[in-house]
Amino acid sequence: METYLLDWLHLLLRWTHIVVGAAWIGASFYFVHLNNSLRPLKEPKDGVTGEMFAIHGGGYYHMHKLDPRMEKLPEPLHWFKWEAYTTWLTGIGLLIVVYYLQASAFLVGDDISAGAAVGVGVGSLVVGWLVYDGLCRTPLLTMPRLFGLIGLILMTGSAYLLCQLLNPRAAYIHVGAMIGTMMAGNVFFTIIPRQRAMVEATLAGKEADPQDGKLGAYRSLHNNYLTLPVLLVMVSNHFGALYGHAWNWALLIAVAVCGAILKHWFNLHGQGKPAPIWIWFVAGLGIVGVAVVAMPEQAGSEASADGAPPYAEVREIVTERCLPCHSQWPTHPVAAAAPAGVYFDTPDELVKLADKVKTVVVDTQTMPLGNLTEMTDQERAALGAWVAAGAKLD
Ligand code: HEC
Repeated sequence: METYLLDWLHLLLRWTHIVVGAAWIGASFYFVHLNNSLRPLKEPKDGVTGEMFAIHGGGYYHMHKLDPRMEKLPEPLHWFKWEAYTTWLTGIGLLIVVYYLQASAFLVGDDISAGAAVGVGVGSLVVGWLVYDGLCRTPLLTMPRLFGLIGLILMTGSAYLLCQLLNPRAAYIHVGAMIGTMMAGNVFFTIIPRQRAMVEATLAGKEADPQDGKLGAYRSLHNNYLTLPVLLVMVSNHFGALYGHAWNWALLIAVAVCGAILKHWFNLHGQGKPAPIWIWFVAGLGIVGVAVVAMPEQAGSEASADGAPPYAEVREIVTERCLPCHSQWPTHPVAAAAPAGVYFDTPDELVKLADKVKTVVVDTQTMPLGNLTEMTDQERAALGAWVAAGAKLD
């Protein structure tokens, strides 16, 4: 019952998280596009610095960008902040419901208690933000390339550490949450306060402090480059071949970098600058490279078919190690319903998924989840050999 309720909370949080996240990233993309597309006015008008025409939803639109030295603040003035805040809050809710309340199943790594693992998870977000924010307060902030390089090295170190300490799937989501926390923190602590200062200056009939705006702009630039990587990192935790790999931390950083490279192309393109096509080749090669490195080993399968056990033995292993979760009538406290819709109640169901079973049990060893059912290496080898020998039912 308790797991069932948690599953529902999980579904509602995830739904909200994706909706508000789409609103956040969507607004961000929209305003980047708008700023890039602004042109000088056809008929100059006081207090307007640029305009753009658009068609959408059956109408024509005419957008103006206003000079901040206006006499009166326009009303009502819409602020874009709750998109970011609610994305972060629902993300934290998801971490709690999925990983912290079910730490022994989803969060712990090989040699760590549930409490310590929660400490590592929460600590990574707090320390990640403090280090990032600290770096932003040094002159490094004004050197975006060097800043990016240092950020990449620190992020790689964090990914490595988290993958050693936590369940790799949880480590992946925590790397995503670290990046998301930096982005939401930038909105909360820097970008919105900067907008407040601008509004106050406007109300007082003064000009906003340009230095203030410049420092904030660097943080917006970071958020811009992080949009594609953070989404890629968030969805990559469904790919066992990545997080189950021995180099999982390096593969994660590699795909994230490919995302940032692509964002660079979109930025150049949007600003009307030459956007070289080779950027796509580099990112594409990177992704293909990761796919090749992460490919589960198929070679050697024939050799391991030797000594394949009879089906009866395989059924015993599966009943003991997998069925507690992967059944239409699961008994394990972690599973209210068969996880990922995968169940092995009948011989046919097992045979149908045999290749997948070999992948998760032998190649990536991501199953049994957290090895909660204590599967032995001999049992893994036996299951692998049975699949390699053709998954026969006799
Ligand atoms: C303690 C519960 C638990 C046990 C025991 C368990 N699993 Fe899983 N399994 C899960 C969960 C949870 C997921 C969903 C993971 C996700 O969404 O990434 C899953 C997903 C899977 C998938 C789908 C993976 C994919 O990439 O689509 C397969 C296949 C699988 N398990 C096979 C097995 C096999 C074979 C065993 C026994 C050797 C096993 N599992 C034992 C909880 C369990």
